[in-house]
Amino acid sequence: MPPTALRERKAWQALQRHYAEISGRHLRDLFAEDPGRGERLTAEAAGIYLDYSKNRVTDETMRLLIELAAESGVPERRDAMFRGEHINVSEDRAVLHVALRMPATESLIVDGQDVVKDVHEVLGRMRDFATRVRSGEFKGYTGKPIKNVINVGIGGSDLGPVMAYEALKFYCTREMTFRFVSNVDSTDFAEAVQDLSPEETLFIISSKTFGTLETLANATTARDWIVDALGSRDAVANHFVAVSTNAERVAAFGIDTANMFGFWDWVGGRYSMDSAIGLSTMIALGPEGFGEMLAGFHDMDMHFRTAPLAASLPVLMGVLAVWYRDFFGLQTVGVMPYDQYLKRFPAYLQQLTMESNGKHVTLTGRRVDYDTGAVYWGEPGTNGQHSFYQLIHQGTTIIPVDLIGFARGLNPIRDQHDLLSSNVFAQAAGLAFGKTEEEVRAEGTPDRVVPHRVMEGNRPTNTLLCDILTPRLLGSLVALYEHSVFVQGTIWEIDSFDQWGVELGKVLAQQIIPELESPSEPALSHDSSTNTLIRRYRTLKSGS
Ligand code: F6P
Repeated sequence: MPPTALRERKAWQALQRHYAEISGRHLRDLFAEDPGRGERLTAEAAGIYLDYSKNRVTDETMRLLIELAAESGVPERRDAMFRGEHINVSEDRAVLHVALRMPATESLIVDGQDVVKDVHEVLGRMRDFATRVRSGEFKGYTGKPIKNVINVGIGGSDLGPVMAYEALKFYCTREMTFRFVSNVDSTDFAEAVQDLSPEETLFIISSKTFGTLETLANATTARDWIVDALGSRDAVANHFVAVSTNAERVAAFGIDTANMFGFWDWVGGRYSMDSAIGLSTMIALGPEGFGEMLAGFHDMDMHFRTAPLAASLPVLMGVLAVWYRDFFGLQTVGVMPYDQYLKRFPAYLQQLTMESNGKHVTLTGRRVDYDTGAVYWGEPGTNGQHSFYQLIHQGTTIIPVDLIGFARGLNPIRDQHDLLSSNVFAQAAGLAFGKTEEEVRAEGTPDRVVPHRVMEGNRPTNTLLCDILTPRLLGSLVALYEHSVFVQGTIWEIDSFDQWGVELGKVLAQQIIPELESPSEPALSHDSSTNTLIRRYRTLKSGS
């Protein structure tokens, strides 16, 4: 843990003074004075080229931000994570998603156990199972091969698998159908199965705890669907597998633990897409592709572990996020992938970033006196450009944006990929440099329209430029954001690996369920708003 509180760290105080000096500077001037910054303020690793020159920083800013990372103990905490120390203090757990992608040749002993060996044992079982399902050897209850795979899970047990499936669809088998059910809203389940045959459908019930209400409700519905259609409870063995850390609950639900793929309490839900939670990904992509994705994660892990702080992509992105959140006071970050396959990437990042860094106390339980995690959001480009980019360009709030582009598209048709990519560069330049009043006037714009067409610019972006979207690249991209979250959390001195904030809502919902379901009018003891809403709901529901 860093010896001094954040606001007292030397680099923080220097940054405060520095912010006062440079916050008014315009990117137009910074580029004019220093034409080399577009080449210099860049870094590259694991197939990702990061151009951070269009941020509101100078070399001095970056020097101080890197100093802040060092003074905050980022290298020490990073090494502690890789050693398997219990850096998740509020849950007293190691944080070892990095072990999920270590090659079998490595070993990491934690609490007397070689976790890399455990990881590869499960990977081996996953490979075997995925191969049997893909080849048709694994059969449903009536002897038909499995054609449809439905992952049932929520949060980290859903967002990673669905994001990875969508991102890597180009590489996935088209002979099978993959669906993802997460919402306790039964519409999610109903729509997912409406055109599928139960005889050919496999459910993967993914839940770290196997105690999550939404997942258990959907799993129960799925079990009923199979048993009703196939006429026997015995069908469960052929149509259900579980991914969990809780064998007891899996067995209690009725899934044989021989059909369970395990993982460990040192894998956080939102850091689990490369654990057994990725079983649907492996079936869709094939074991080899899944291995490639793990290699990509590992590439970025190695970079994070070994690169100097000033050349480390996760560190650079992490400290820039802190710069905007704490010094500029900016509240949101946009992530805009210019690749249709990454359409669920922003949703995935929302859990990764906000469940990790949406915290208001430090590791020692002290209320923070600075801002922590920003709101992350986004949509694939160029769709966003025709909806919300207006506000990013001309609104009164500044939104730093990560633009993710690829040199090659997976489905080249005429010049469409260049049309797409031109927008990555155009948006970054437009946001940075804007359009001055003189420029607008020089175009012959009538006086009354001039103010409307002026673009202030000075809006920061990171551009992440990659070659082509592959399983390996996706792994590196996810690991980049994982470690950037880590860097931010370390500077803020918060526990990026717990999620106590989601508990209260769950507990309250449990109290309210019987009040909604009770046939007789229940005695309600909530606040007057909640009581009235429940009564109104009951009246509407009964149709009276
Ligand atoms: O409610 C939040 C959460 O605990 C997430 O952290 C987690 O990814 C999700 O629920 C699902 O949990 P589980 O995998 O245990 O069902």
